[in-house]
Amino acid sequence: MTNELRPIPSDFAAKALIDDAGYLKMYAQSVDNPETFWGEQGKRLDWMKPYTRVKNTSFEYPDVSIKWYEDGELNVSANCIDRHLATRGDQVAIIWEGDDPSSDKKITYKELHEHVCRLANVYKELGVEKGDRVILYMPMIPEAAYAMLACARIGAVHSIVFGGFSADALADRVTGSQAKLLVTTDEGLRGGRSVPLKANCDKALAKVAHDVKMVVVQHTGGDIAMREGLDFWYHEQTQKVSADCQPEAMNAEDPLFILYTSGSTGMPKGVVHTTGGYLVYASMTHEYVFDHQDGDIYWCTADVGWVTGHSYIVYGPLANGATTLMFEGVPTYPSPSRFWDVCEKHKVTVFYTAPTAIRALMGAGEEHVKGADLSSLRLLGSVGEPINPEAWKWYDEVVGEGRCPIVDTWWQTETGGILITPIPGATETKPGSATRPFFGVQPVILDTEGVVQTSVEAEGVLCIKDSWPGQMRTVYGDHERFVSTYFETFKGYYFTGDGCRRDADGYYWITGRVDDVINVSGHRMGTAEVESALVAHEKVSEAAVVGFPHDIKGQGIYAYVTLMEGEEPSEELRKELVTWVRKEIGPIASPDLIQWAPGLPKTRSGKIMRRILRKIAENDYDALGDTSTLADPSVVADLIEHRANA
Ligand code: WT7
Repeated sequence: MTNELRPIPSDFAAKALIDDAGYLKMYAQSVDNPETFWGEQGKRLDWMKPYTRVKNTSFEYPDVSIKWYEDGELNVSANCIDRHLATRGDQVAIIWEGDDPSSDKKITYKELHEHVCRLANVYKELGVEKGDRVILYMPMIPEAAYAMLACARIGAVHSIVFGGFSADALADRVTGSQAKLLVTTDEGLRGGRSVPLKANCDKALAKVAHDVKMVVVQHTGGDIAMREGLDFWYHEQTQKVSADCQPEAMNAEDPLFILYTSGSTGMPKGVVHTTGGYLVYASMTHEYVFDHQDGDIYWCTADVGWVTGHSYIVYGPLANGATTLMFEGVPTYPSPSRFWDVCEKHKVTVFYTAPTAIRALMGAGEEHVKGADLSSLRLLGSVGEPINPEAWKWYDEVVGEGRCPIVDTWWQTETGGILITPIPGATETKPGSATRPFFGVQPVILDTEGVVQTSVEAEGVLCIKDSWPGQMRTVYGDHERFVSTYFETFKGYYFTGDGCRRDADGYYWITGRVDDVINVSGHRMGTAEVESALVAHEKVSEAAVVGFPHDIKGQGIYAYVTLMEGEEPSEELRKELVTWVRKEIGPIASPDLIQWAPGLPKTRSGKIMRRILRKIAENDYDALGDTSTLADPSVVADLIEHRANA
């Protein structure tokens, strides 16, 4: 890996919000006196009742407790909309670019206010109250943002289920959160193809025991069924209610949203983020990491179904009065120049995407970039997985034309906002390194025994010492799982699940997950989840799932499958299992490779040795390690001989 420091482009540095001396000074304040530092930063928001207590947090196992600004009251939607009306009422808040390149629209802050108030009033009429959960199953259209902000306005807790998840996965989340209301559209549109969102909701609700009402946005005009007295059209209901809705005063620690994410064991857990600290952190990181300045056209290509969409399409940018672009489509439709055409069309200044998209577009060829005028771009960002230096350099030279700093931002659903990242006017970069911690963040590297590595150069697991305001507070309905997942293994620290190296300059290099979570195209997938979907199939007796290196996706899904006695492997069954997993979880969980495994490598106590399965999937047989403790060491040779290939 390259270790050269890349200087900050001088034009950028001249206009940047903060330089290196500024970063170092603020960072020192933030860790030396967090109370004062975050007390000041809290003032970036409008509070209905000011806080008197800033930080009240403990990582001490098992009494983990995290509270920020705990006696303050505020409303997130008022902070993202109302407070900008006097100065920015006619400024564009959201630019929407449809899947079809001829469809777009612009929504001003004034218009956003009206849309959000009307929908909030519809929620109320449908019986949604403060604290109730509302599930959003939406494509990337402005109504998705309205639906989030309308929840925040009345104190309802939203939980977005990514539109690529299946009806079964949706049903689990509706039941898990006991949501009263589901907001969806007739259909989504991606890459010219429609996605049957309402029909998936119908299928999901057939599996849910309690009554759930639905608000349906008419988007494609596709043919759908509406349930009498339970399903309501968005366009009809919003016209019947007032265009004004008073924002509810929420305690800083009231939940704002739940977002389900995969872990190393069991089923996805509901990550809970609260109101005050989350918004302070989303706003501050958006401002400093993206050097946010008036006049910016900011585009984060994520989907609102992931945390990146929450913090860096909706909450962070809108809290800062920014213009945020929402894109419905995919990077390659109608052609691989789509991203760059959109940058040119809307004069995007700050662009934030994922390495998987960069690699795919890099593969499509430079000519797709060269055809667009990208002179408006001034800053580029990356998120979701480690970015390989080759993709980093292409992004820098071909997209950024050497003029735009790159911020490689490391964070997680659990962290609420970016934790390790360059500050673009302050930090010289290195291709492939997330560089240095954000204000208030204290990364610590431990060895597997839990010993803190004090030397500058170190490698091990990444933990964080002490809390930051954007941190998740609990797992929905299961605080014990929160404590045991993140605070039990390394006492006194937040355990990230990532491996990490710190170089001689003190720069951090994330090396990937150290647990049984795989990262497919920047999306997290728990191997346990895919395994449980596979064994739910009647012909499967056992399954073990691991990641393997994939050129575009970063990691692919490799499944070892043992069939029931008497079942024969076949190409047909392979396809059937792939379809089955898509139905159980969603297309993002589709196994890329399935290997029929008559036996799996197990210890004498019956534990599957995944380390060996990982090595075989990686085609790395020299590093298999000790196999002598296996109950039947001969299965290994058989698995190697029959390794699946693309
Ligand atoms: C995991 C979190 C945070 C938004 C998107 C993913 C990996 C994320 C980076 C990066 C290296 C990264 C980590 C992390 N990851 N960003 N810049 N460099 N790895 O959120 O689904 O919660 O996944 O994504 O492994 O733990 P998520």
